[in-house]
Amino acid sequence: MSQKYEFSFPVEGKSFDDAGKASVEIKRILKGLGIAGDVLRRTAIATYESEVNIISYAWKGNINICVTDDNILINIQDSGPGITDIEQAMRQGYSTADDRIREMGFGAGMGLFNIKNCSDEFEISSKVNKGTLLKILINR
Ligand SMILES: Nc1ncnc2c1ncn2[C@@H]1O[C@H](COP(=O)(O)OP(=O)(O)OP(=O)(O)O)[C@@H](O)[C@H]1O
Ligand SMILES: [Mg+2]
Repeated sequence: MSQKYEFSFPVEGKSFDDAGKASVEIKRILKGLGIAGDVLRRTAIATYESEVNIISYAWKGNINICVTDDNILINIQDSGPGITDIEQAMRQGYSTADDRIREMGFGAGMGLFNIKNCSDEFEISSKVNKGTLLKILINR
């Protein structure tokens, strides 16, 4: 019988002390669902990088995970300043991180590139002063 599991985590902007909490919890749930190995690893990277981006750049957001027998679909939506030039933002090494973000070890400009790399399908869209939407599909 085919099964479907769906769950969501809210993420608050600027909540640097909580960075990683949502993605660790997501990883724990996925492990419990029997997701392992490379699929678990790629999902963990994609959710962690997305979570830190919401905390660093957006006002607030939400990570939604939908697990089926075939794949894991991750929808990450935020309200925030959005991204003016997506092509530039996707480039390795491009970052607008300020000193505070860099002091915490973020801001290498690798997050979005790594998310795309971990995805079997990846879509990003953004509206300036509205927010950003990522759709990540990882095949099981
Ligand atoms: N959710 C978002 N809302 C607004 N801007 C974003 C968002 N996510 C990324 N950006 C912009 O895209 C740039 C590149 O993001 P990316 O995650 O690749 O690198 P980074 O966050 O700067 O550094 P790293 O992820 O390596 O710590 C960011 O510096 C920021 O300007
Ligand atoms: Mg990032």
